[in-house]
Amino acid sequence: MLIRRVPDPGWSDVTPNAQYVRRREFIRAAAVPLVAGVAGCLGLASDAEAQGGLAKLAFKRSALSATDESLTPYGDVTTYNNFFEFGTDKDSPSRFASSLRPRPWTVTIDGAVKKGGQFAIDDLIKPYQLEERVYRLRCVEGWSMVIPWIGIPLGDIVRKAEPTPQARFVEFITLNDPEQMPGVRRRSLDWPYVEGLRLDEALHPLAILAVGLYGEVLPNQNGAPLRLVVPWKYGFKSIKSIVRIRLVEKQPVGSWERSQPSEYGFYSNVNPEVDHPRWTQARERRIGEFFKRKTLMFNGYADQVGSLYTGLDLRKNY
Ligand code: MTE
Repeated sequence: MLIRRVPDPGWSDVTPNAQYVRRREFIRAAAVPLVAGVAGCLGLASDAEAQGGLAKLAFKRSALSATDESLTPYGDVTTYNNFFEFGTDKDSPSRFASSLRPRPWTVTIDGAVKKGGQFAIDDLIKPYQLEERVYRLRCVEGWSMVIPWIGIPLGDIVRKAEPTPQARFVEFITLNDPEQMPGVRRRSLDWPYVEGLRLDEALHPLAILAVGLYGEVLPNQNGAPLRLVVPWKYGFKSIKSIVRIRLVEKQPVGSWERSQPSEYGFYSNVNPEVDHPRWTQARERRIGEFFKRKTLMFNGYADQVGSLYTGLDLRKNY
């Protein structure tokens, strides 16, 4: 994610630092399709690549996964991150997020709901069968990854809270604690980090709350203990380290929309036909690959989510 003070529209043509620095991983990435393909048949895709040494999770595979894609190596998924609460460089989250304490952790669900409350993270998740969802993540900056997330459908949590007729949107809020998150002492964004979805988007089966990746619990830098993943939207919608989920009547204003409304809209659907004011969105660089590839409408999920936006002017509602 770029902040306006860094006017560099051509940056996305540069080989990402993570890719340059770890050339060995880049070479290894070429072997991953083979490993993932073979292991995937055996149901071992995630286990084969997990390297974090974090607690393993029990999960089932979901048919909603993009199984035809090669996984981005664990090393890249966990060291090339955006998590401004820990700094603005790509390696800041992996360097500094060890100060985040993902347990004990409470999530508040409130607003226009009948059954809200404060829930310990493990109690919130316990009733559900965890699923593995392999999704493409497309960052607004022009890079993308393929990540085997572990999580539960966001819709299950929202429905359980029993939204009232006033509930039209869902607002998500990240922890804002300068003691655990050194980056919030700087005003790189207006803290806490906030994001929002329309209620029907939140109820769509593709939207998940993730608690893990590569078969293990989420590393802190990826948003432990609970983060949103909305695969058809630019990555900044996938808010990390969530402490509050609020059902609201008014459209929430996300942190990036608040900081630069002309650049980051509420919808933020991946759309190769609508350029960012400072760069094209037509192409992307998959981390671990050399050549750029075409960006797909709704990040390749158009068949599943296109109908949510029938009749909406996607140029105006970017
Ligand atoms: N959530 C919080 N709280 N703070 C952030 O800075 N960055 C967003 C999103 N969620 C961000 C966040 C952006 S810009 C992206 S691209 C994704 O997280 C990156 O997720 P990843 O680091 O797990 O790949």
